[in-house]
Amino acid sequence: MENKTKPNGTAKLEVKGKSYDLPVLSGTHGPDVIDIRRVYGETDHFTFDPGFTSTASCESQITFIDGDKGILLHRGYPIDQLAEKSTFPEVCHLILHGELPSAVELQDFCDEIKQHTLLHTQLDRFFDGFRRDSHPMAMLTGIVGGMASFYPGAMDSEDLEERRLGSIRLIAKMPTICARILKYNLGQRFVDPRNQYDYASNFMNMCFSVVAEDYEINPKLAKAMDRFFILHADHEQNASTSTVRLAASSGAHPFAAVAAGVACLWGPSHGGANEACLNMLHEIGTANRIPEFIEKAKDKDDPFRLMGFGHRVYKNYDPRAKVMRATAHEVLDELDLRDTPILKVAMELERIALEDEYFIEKKLYPNVDFYSGIILDALGFPKQMFTVLFALARTVGWVAQLNEMLDDPTQKIGRPRQIYTGHAMRDYVAIDKR
Ligand code: CMC
Repeated sequence: MENKTKPNGTAKLEVKGKSYDLPVLSGTHGPDVIDIRRVYGETDHFTFDPGFTSTASCESQITFIDGDKGILLHRGYPIDQLAEKSTFPEVCHLILHGELPSAVELQDFCDEIKQHTLLHTQLDRFFDGFRRDSHPMAMLTGIVGGMASFYPGAMDSEDLEERRLGSIRLIAKMPTICARILKYNLGQRFVDPRNQYDYASNFMNMCFSVVAEDYEINPKLAKAMDRFFILHADHEQNASTSTVRLAASSGAHPFAAVAAGVACLWGPSHGGANEACLNMLHEIGTANRIPEFIEKAKDKDDPFRLMGFGHRVYKNYDPRAKVMRATAHEVLDELDLRDTPILKVAMELERIALEDEYFIEKKLYPNVDFYSGIILDALGFPKQMFTVLFALARTVGWVAQLNEMLDDPTQKIGRPRQIYTGHAMRDYVAIDKR
């Protein structure tokens, strides 16, 4: 990656009476950054930023978010345009290679993915080691990490062809693994990939067809699946992506680094929120109970939060949530489920929260997970699978960010520091004297 930041003046840092000039750098969009790389060397002080709320951890040319305006761009293209006009494989190509593909390039890309969807038969045996009722994310973490053992060549980050193939393999095999996880939980036989289908339809076929009966692909539902994948494809330096970058910064195998990203995504503050949100909507059950839950969310002494609301970066409506809401309506209409109580509760909850002073003041808007659970539930996925579907879609983002990091000449092993507040140095005390 060619570094493209531009110098844009300096910032003054004064530490205990001594003044230091720090370079200020500009990117294409977004706030300028104060380059603090020399701060420790020159001032003997660290900067302190738990949770990275003020820290840009890398330079990136993949995704841009303006949280105040509710804008999300992949390689410059707005997410709503991609969701409406593009397909997931096309977005994968864009995120990985930087440009929308020509028709021939897209065909080649899709064909190559189809060449790599099968799993090594030995990999199929991993599944038997898990409890039948294992959480799908526990299985996914283990299986993605275990895949590294089949492709040792991908460890060599200097081998660009191996690296390219590794990226394709991850994107191609993820749907096969995720569908097998669902089948394993259900106690059904695995369904192999079929090359006549597009990416989303193939995944749905592997999830929902059974030996006794073919699964009829409904193009509207397959489109909704594809759109779900587009909306989750990348999201700049979120927790799981930063985890992937940090893990890979040591030179770890890229499949193992992606497995670390899967583990991070599992949590309810990140990818697990869609499952938690649907649970919450079911728990609320009817619109008349909404005020009770709003009050719980506002109560400082109650740990309850309105799931699917709020975001570290978006202080406006999450642009992905807008598309999700429209897609939820389309899916429920198609399945004749438009009068389902859960959709009514979600819409009413959204309306009440958006008019509530607490949510207005804290700029808490629906995020991508608010409506996605309703869609996935209607498509027939069990709740426990929701985060797995997020991971499937995010794989392209993880892989693209990992590759970008490996190509960045300023890349170093990630190694944050700390402010130590434990015991001062003291002498060892013999056991009989304690
Ligand atoms: N319900 C009620 N209050 C909330 C909520 C919520 N969902 N989210 C934030 N707040 C309050 C929070 O209590 C805090 O109040 P105060 O300033 O009085 O202490 C204030 O808003 C700021 O919250 P924060 O936790 O400091 O903000 P954060 O940026 O660290 O957290 C978040 C972001 C997404 C973890 C949080 O909003 C949250 O827990 N939301 C619910 C879980 C959820 O939907 N997560 C999915 C995120 S989107 C998917 C993804 O990109 O991974």
